[in-house]
Amino acid sequence: MKNIAVVGTGYVGLVTGTCFANLGNRVICLDIDEEKIGKLRQGEVPIYEPGLSELVARNMKAGRLSFTTRYPEALADAEFVFICVGTPSGVDGEADLRYVRMAAESIAEHMTHPIIVVNKSTVPVGTGDWVADIIRKRQAEPIDFAVVSCPEFLKEGSAIVDFMNPDRVVLGSMDREAADKVAQLHLPLRAPIIVTDLRTAEMIKYASNAFLATRISFINEIASICEKLGADIQEVAVGMGYDKRIGPHFLNAGLGYGGSCFPKDVKALEYMALVHGTHPSLLRAVMEINRDARRWAVITLRELLGGRLEDRRIGLLGLAFKPNTDDIREAPALEIAHMLQNEGARVVAYDPVAMENAARVNPDLHLAEDPYAVAQGADALLVTTEWDEFKHLDLRRILEIMARPILVDGRNIYDPRQMVEMGFIYRGVGRGHVHQLAGKSPNGYKAGI
Ligand code: UDX
Repeated sequence: MKNIAVVGTGYVGLVTGTCFANLGNRVICLDIDEEKIGKLRQGEVPIYEPGLSELVARNMKAGRLSFTTRYPEALADAEFVFICVGTPSGVDGEADLRYVRMAAESIAEHMTHPIIVVNKSTVPVGTGDWVADIIRKRQAEPIDFAVVSCPEFLKEGSAIVDFMNPDRVVLGSMDREAADKVAQLHLPLRAPIIVTDLRTAEMIKYASNAFLATRISFINEIASICEKLGADIQEVAVGMGYDKRIGPHFLNAGLGYGGSCFPKDVKALEYMALVHGTHPSLLRAVMEINRDARRWAVITLRELLGGRLEDRRIGLLGLAFKPNTDDIREAPALEIAHMLQNEGARVVAYDPVAMENAARVNPDLHLAEDPYAVAQGADALLVTTEWDEFKHLDLRRILEIMARPILVDGRNIYDPRQMVEMGFIYRGVGRGHVHQLAGKSPNGYKAGI
């Protein structure tokens, strides 16, 4: 049993703190937001993450998990303090480190004994050294400390399972003994532990996210080509995925990546590369293809609706950036909704959990109580998030109540053949073979030439 303090009760902090408590440690989570801490003390979890509320309640009850807004209380017995604060995008795409700085300064001011500072926030390469500098300068009198980087690889919607079953734990520090102590904390997870230097650990996080984002943009680029040439991206991805060197993951073509990590991290890596004089052309292409994936939905809808979107009623199925979360940060659905609204369309949407969040950022969005209310009288439907609920809709009923039978499947959740047979005018992402199913040849492609 170790005493751990966690600074920041956002997504990463809350999951990290709760999971360490669940492993038997005594954890105290700190946030400067009084209201949030007040709610957490009542057992109210401010984010939607399957299983998290139950785990918070269980560990609070067992006396292993508590919450505070006061640094002296958080640090009093702590052997480790995890920094898990947000690092939003700054004006040029750089990571904004103001919250990391505030956390480092407060730790320096309130520590009373040697402590290991573990950074989990996604920070530019070199930040670990910068944090160490801040702490050293800010301490009233010198007290020993070490900085260890321990990047998180949690996916929203499966964060607890991911924390408990990581593919690997990455630790970086110039202080091997401190890194070994942090490694001990992770031993119950029975995962490979990589110990390296600070900057390398920080880069592993960026490189991993940028690589996954690259896979998504790669498959989306192939999807565009498939669409023109009459091939099916779903089958292409399966065929590629069996190659062990490629593997099947993150090859789902769609409306592009969103969320709190990929967009921000790819941008931040591009920024780091630029300021240091390298030419990150691949990262730029990844971002551009991702923007095009959103535009594809608008262009396709416009084309199917006779060249204009003005006064068309367009229904969106899904608002969250992916299923099993209420997170709408960089969600394709919201970006597409804005583009459609700019062209004069009336956008109606439904999401099982993200409607409240979406209404806050887009008050012109018409919210419907279920998918059928979205479809009622719609000129076209667009699947924007692949919630399970949408995979089991009564599509015949949908077809009957729509004004026109146009369905654009931005997540490829339906079988094109069935959709066409049922009478839909159906488009998926990279599903060029649908043109042949409908008895037409794919755009501009003539077999044998
Ligand atoms: C991601 C990383 O997976 C995680 O390791 C990191 O710590 C935080 O960022 P998350 O943002 O929760 O996690 O979502 P993830 O499941 O990775 O999906 C990211 C985005 O990519 C989503 O918008 C998703 O729809 C999209 N995606 C994912 C695709 O478009 N195709 C795919 O094949 C996979």
